[in-house]
Amino acid sequence: MIRLHVNGRAHDIDAAPDTALLYVLRNDLALNGPKYGCGLGECGTCTVLIDGTAARSCVIPLDGCVGRDIVTLEGLGSRERPDPVQQAFIAEQAAQCGYCLNGMIMSIKALLMRAPHPSETEVLEALRYNLCRCGAHVEIMRAAMRAAGRVAGAYD
Ligand code: FES
Repeated sequence: MIRLHVNGRAHDIDAAPDTALLYVLRNDLALNGPKYGCGLGECGTCTVLIDGTAARSCVIPLDGCVGRDIVTLEGLGSRERPDPVQQAFIAEQAAQCGYCLNGMIMSIKALLMRAPHPSETEVLEALRYNLCRCGAHVEIMRAAMRAAGRVAGAYD
């Protein structure tokens, strides 16, 4: 058994220590915010927060997560009380197919936790390795800048 702390709750997981965290989140804990994209740590759609830092759950083994604080998209907010980053994405309608959004939102959240009002350059850097194949980058950047408090009306 491996004990994980996810979204403020402890879970005892019966899986091999080298199992990728993403599989356990989705298949054992029914947390389907993080998505499977490349499985190689390159697209970012599986991103979660580990101790407040954005991390690619498809390449992180369970034994690297013991004793650490894991937060998934589900742990940010709810439909009734979305996190400010989620609110910004809703306000800007920043989605097309939506597959990349988990990674975009979690990466922006991690950035804002360490720099509450980042510059556009910092936002671009935070999203540099998060891929979107629909081409919704303009709306995603607007949402990210809104979440960063750089757009009038943010958090209203
Ligand atoms: Fe993890 Fe692509 S699925 S980075």
